[in-house]
Amino acid sequence: MTARELIDRRYSCRIYVDQPIADEDQRRLVDYMATKTDGPLGSRARFGLIAAASGDASALKRLGTYGFIKGATGFLVGAVRRGPKDLEDYGYLLEEVILHATGMGLGTCWLGGTFTRSSFVRRFGGLSRDETMPAVVSIGLIGDDGTERIREREEGSRRLPSSELFFQRSFGEPLRIAPDDWYAEPLEAVRMAPSATNRQPWRIVRDGAAWHFYLRRTKGYGKGSALFTVLRIADLQRVDLGIAMCHFELVAHDCGRAGSWVVSDPGIPLPGRDAEYVATWIAASSLSG
Ligand SMILES: Cc1cc2nc3c(=O)[nH]c(=O)nc-3n(C[C@H](O)[C@H](O)[C@H](O)COP(=O)(O)O)c2cc1C
Repeated sequence: MTARELIDRRYSCRIYVDQPIADEDQRRLVDYMATKTDGPLGSRARFGLIAAASGDASALKRLGTYGFIKGATGFLVGAVRRGPKDLEDYGYLLEEVILHATGMGLGTCWLGGTFTRSSFVRRFGGLSRDETMPAVVSIGLIGDDGTERIREREEGSRRLPSSELFFQRSFGEPLRIAPDDWYAEPLEAVRMAPSATNRQPWRIVRDGAAWHFYLRRTKGYGKGSALFTVLRIADLQRVDLGIAMCHFELVAHDCGRAGSWVVSDPGIPLPGRDAEYVATWIAASSLSG
C-alpha cells in the first residue's frame, strides 16, 4: 500500500475486539519499531508494545486523555530524549509506526496525557532521567462494525480547508493547488493527519523548494496554558506537527520527491503571537542546485 492509501485508511479507532493481536503480527510490529530510533530533527527515541492491563481505561482518564477506548489489547508506548525538537520527532516516528500497523489491518488511536510517572512507563521498563513519554497509542483488532467506523471517520474527518492551512511565500497568500501539482497529495495527507482534539495546528508556507512548517497554537494548549502548567500535559500540538511532517514527507516520497529537514527560521512575518516556526523541508533538487 502507498503512504497515501495508509493515511486514507487510518482513523482513530476507539473500539477493539477483545482478542490479542496475533503473535506473528506483534513480532512484525516490534521489529519495525526497533528501526525507529532517530527523528528527522535529531532526537533519539525508542518504542515498545505493551499488553493492556485491567484498570487502564480509568488510568487513561486520570492521565488526561479524552474519548472512551473500549477493548484495546495493547498500547504502543515510547520514550524520547529531551531536546529542542523532541516532541516533533516523537510524533513523526510514532506516526510511522501507526501507519505500519494500519497496513497490517490494525486499529490505533493516539492518546495524549501525562504518562511520565504512570503504569505505562513502568510496563515499558521505566524512563531514564533525560527521557519523556509524551503520548501513547491504543492498538488492537478493529472492533467497530461498519457503521461505527463510518461515524468515527466522519466525526474525525472534519478538516480545515487548504486555504487556511497552506500559503505561498507569506501567510497572507493561500497556496494555489492544482490537482496535478506534485504537492497536492502530500498537502492533502497533512490535512488528513490526526491531531489532538482535531485542532489541526499545522500551517505550511511554501517558498520555492522550501516548505516551512509552523505551529499555530490553540488557546489552552502549550507552554503557559493552564493545561500545561497545572496538569503538565505534554505540549501535544508539537507532537501534531511531527505527525504532519511525517505525512508530508512519506507522500512526497511516493510522488517521487526526496528532500531533507532543516531547522532554519526564514523570518517570514508570523500571523500572530500564537504562531511559531518549527522546521523546513527542502526538496532535494534545490540541494543539488
Ligand atoms: C497527539 C494526539 C493526542 C490525542 N489524544 C487523544 C485522546 O486523548 N483521546 C482520544 O480519544 N483521541 C485522541 N486523539 C485523536 C484525535 O482526537 C483525532 O486524531 C482527531 O479527532 C481526528 O480524527 P481521526 O484520527 O479519526 O482522523 C489524539 C490525537 C493526537 C494526534
